[in-house]
Amino acid sequence: MDTDWETVSLDIDDDVATLTIDRPDSLNALNTETMDALEEAIAAAEDADVQVLVLTGAGDKAFIAGADIEYMQSLSTEEAEAYATQGHDICRSLETFPGVTIAAVNGYAFGGGCEMALACDLRVASERAVLGQTEIDLGIVPGWGGTQRLPALVGDEVARRLIFFGDRIDAGDAYEHGLVGEVVAHDQLESHVAEMADELAAKPTFALRTAKEALNKYHEAPRDVGLDFERRAWSGLFGTHDQREGMAAFVEKRDPDFE
Ligand code: COA
Repeated sequence: MDTDWETVSLDIDDDVATLTIDRPDSLNALNTETMDALEEAIAAAEDADVQVLVLTGAGDKAFIAGADIEYMQSLSTEEAEAYATQGHDICRSLETFPGVTIAAVNGYAFGGGCEMALACDLRVASERAVLGQTEIDLGIVPGWGGTQRLPALVGDEVARRLIFFGDRIDAGDAYEHGLVGEVVAHDQLESHVAEMADELAAKPTFALRTAKEALNKYHEAPRDVGLDFERRAWSGLFGTHDQREGMAAFVEKRDPDFE
């Protein structure tokens, strides 16, 4: 199934959805029309019940060059708050998306673009990717979750350096900092992420969703709440088809046939 907005496309192939920001002339910067489309596209992917959502950018230069600076330059405080709220909502919908989300970072990922990648479960970068929370040089700070999600991923010191200096770092440095999980050749990015997505799509659905939810708790809840969630969620998986099948397959020395 293909669904298209003017600047966003959603391609759903069985259990894998690919969401592409498609404004290459503006390096996929997120104007309000694109933000509205992005919200709808993520909701459509959720309705389609996919197991994996891949987020990427059109063209061969940019993942997402950030929030739209031209649009932002004359915003009032109230308008800025509405834009921040929409950005937060989109990032949160990626973070809480029931399936696994993968940012295929195919080029520039600055400001809000870097924050969209941070909100995904996993980040794979092309060797051409350049990432950064560059807001400081625009007289602002990260406003779509970067001050909270970046330190969780790279640690406090590195996050402070990236946000204070606004550095633009290449894929290799991003990997060194743990900002991306992997760097691949530019022309291999799409096929590599597709392979990852197919592998994840074959995993048992309830278990994968539960794992994501429990890992999110690690970042969002006190330790005792997270541990309690894990204990209850773990027990809740017993009796599901995939738990019975996965364990029976191991004992019977055969491949499992998950639902
Ligand atoms: N918002 C709005 N438009 C943007 C944009 C953004 N964040 N990033 C790029 N564009 C637009 C440019 O204005 C330009 O439009 P034009 O052709 O109508 O003039 C077009 O995309 C191409 O960008 P350009 O700067 O000419 O390309 P480049 O290859 O020389 O540089 C970047 C690419 C990404 C290094 C540079 O565009 C840049 O630094 N962008 C801002 C990144 C940023 O700080 N983002 C965080 C925002 S919170």
